[in-house]
Amino acid sequence: MSNLIVGMTGASGSVYATRLVEVLVAAGQTVHLTISPAAVEVFKKELGVTISLDHFDPRQLFPNDQAPDSDRRLPQTTPGAATNPAPRANDSTAGQIIYHHYRDYSAGIASGSFLTSGMVICPCSMGTLASIATGQSQNLIHRAADVQLKERRKLIVVPRETPLSVIALDNMKRLAEAGAVILPAMPGFYHDPQSISDLVDFIVARICDQLGVPNTLMKRWGSGVNS
Ligand SMILES: Cc1cc2nc3c(=O)[nH]c(=O)nc-3n(C[C@H](O)[C@H](O)[C@H](O)COP(=O)(O)O)c2cc1C
Repeated sequence: MSNLIVGMTGASGSVYATRLVEVLVAAGQTVHLTISPAAVEVFKKELGVTISLDHFDPRQLFPNDQAPDSDRRLPQTTPGAATNPAPRANDSTAGQIIYHHYRDYSAGIASGSFLTSGMVICPCSMGTLASIATGQSQNLIHRAADVQLKERRKLIVVPRETPLSVIALDNMKRLAEAGAVILPAMPGFYHDPQSISDLVDFIVARICDQLGVPNTLMKRWGSGVNS
């Protein structure tokens, strides 16, 4: 089990974020989760989900989940932080979600001495993209991303906007040059998708591939099967 960071920001595509966390937890990963205020607005609009940043509970992300462990609360690790068993798809390997408030710079993920296997910002707004590209560290998401870059660790950015301005393109180029993987929320249609879930899983699978998290979410080109 390794520490992965997931930052959720205020771009369209909340469903990518919830599915990503669900898959990572089911794969036994520890997910350090931080959420921007704008993401809360988008979650409400797109998924009808109400998230409290000050009193976060993973069940807010998965209101319909029937996870048997979801009532078990573990002690808080930092002020405003919650550690909970997560909704799980695979009982034997389920990991956990450790929540960090977006203003909590005392969280471990704000420091390079806290070891992680990577960070994903999904979805990533143009605002967060710009902040990271210019090293602003105005919230914990920006700071954690800055740490990933300075430590030469994996940073995966999942931007969502269309069309893209020259400013956004420049910021993506700058981040790519700094070592980040730019993985746009831009699903392919060559794997015979039957539903929106299939399109979501296409992106989540590509993120998991980048993180080295094994998955069978999509039919891989050339294999003919999900593997
Ligand atoms: C419903 C909704 C959808 C949005 N979609 C996008 C989007 O797809 N891409 C984007 O860059 N910003 C989008 N925004 C605007 C961002 O939320 C806004 O720029 C915000 O300041 C980003 O803050 P954050 O990066 O701290 O989350 C959206 C806002 C709302 C309310």
